[in-house]
Amino acid sequence: MTDLSGKCGLVVGVANKRSISWAIAQAAAQAGARLVLTYPSARLEGNVRELAAKLDDPLVLPCDVTSDQQIAELAAAVDRDFDGLDFLVHGAAFARQAELDNPFVQTSREGFHVALDVSAYSLIALSRAAAPLMERRGGGSILTLTYLGSDRVFKNYNVMGVAKAALEACVRYLAADLGPRNIRVNAISAGPIKTLAAAGISGFSNILNVYRERAPLARNIDASEVADAAVFLLGPAGRGVTAETIFVDAGFHAVGF
Ligand SMILES: NC(=O)c1ccc[n+]([C@@H]2O[C@H](COP(=O)([O-])OP(=O)(O)OC[C@H]3O[C@@H](n4cnc5c(N)ncnc54)[C@H](O)[C@@H]3O)[C@@H](O)[C@H]2O)c1
Repeated sequence: MTDLSGKCGLVVGVANKRSISWAIAQAAAQAGARLVLTYPSARLEGNVRELAAKLDDPLVLPCDVTSDQQIAELAAAVDRDFDGLDFLVHGAAFARQAELDNPFVQTSREGFHVALDVSAYSLIALSRAAAPLMERRGGGSILTLTYLGSDRVFKNYNVMGVAKAALEACVRYLAADLGPRNIRVNAISAGPIKTLAAAGISGFSNILNVYRERAPLARNIDASEVADAAVFLLGPAGRGVTAETIFVDAGFHAVGF
């Protein structure tokens, strides 16, 4: 098993116990890492604090990823407490409900902006803030979460598919930029999992059924499987891997009609 003892990680994207980022946080903590969890609004603070209480000596801080000021304050607070950073998990994504319900051609300028800002640009902003902290540790690992909707059309995924395409391109450009500082940047493309974010996609249960029918492993995946792959990418075993999108989707991405 990967050993993350002595490592410090920042996890952005825990909303509740079903969050993929929470599964990753638990797996990283089990591997020995000390963690910072963030919450984007007062509404979610209680949930995140309750979950964080299950970890050993966590830090819980606010961070709405659309705010450069909050990102700067987060980085400063992490640096004060942790004196550097070894890894960052980026699990933030959002699209307005109208953008997921209406035909794609109706995507509004504002809805496009919000989805791309929260779900893709935030990886750049957080990576920029985290990089100097990682550099002081001799390098680091940044991981984000994406979905096959970046590449293929899934009904109702809409602008989120465009955001994920942008996110995956950001992974490659960030990996090129930060590689010389020994900072790796990767994505996991997860199969569908019932979470808060997934609840916004109408017909989501149907997507789960189709995966079960067609994926090579003939089943859906769960968040712990994403978390195990995440710990590999975050830790020393993944040291040669960067600019990569790894599928944890029971093989669905490889299957044609
Ligand atoms: N659930 C799935 O089927 C699935 C599949 C593939 C990829 N993903 C991706 O995994 C990631 C995590 O999603 P999840 O399914 O665990 O759902 P989730 O709802 O638990 O996580 C989404 C997170 O984004 C956060 N967020 C939204 N707006 C924010 C903002 N302005 N600032 C900071 N944080 C903000 C929410 O607070 C929440 O914690 C997302 O990127 C999602 O697109 C999910």
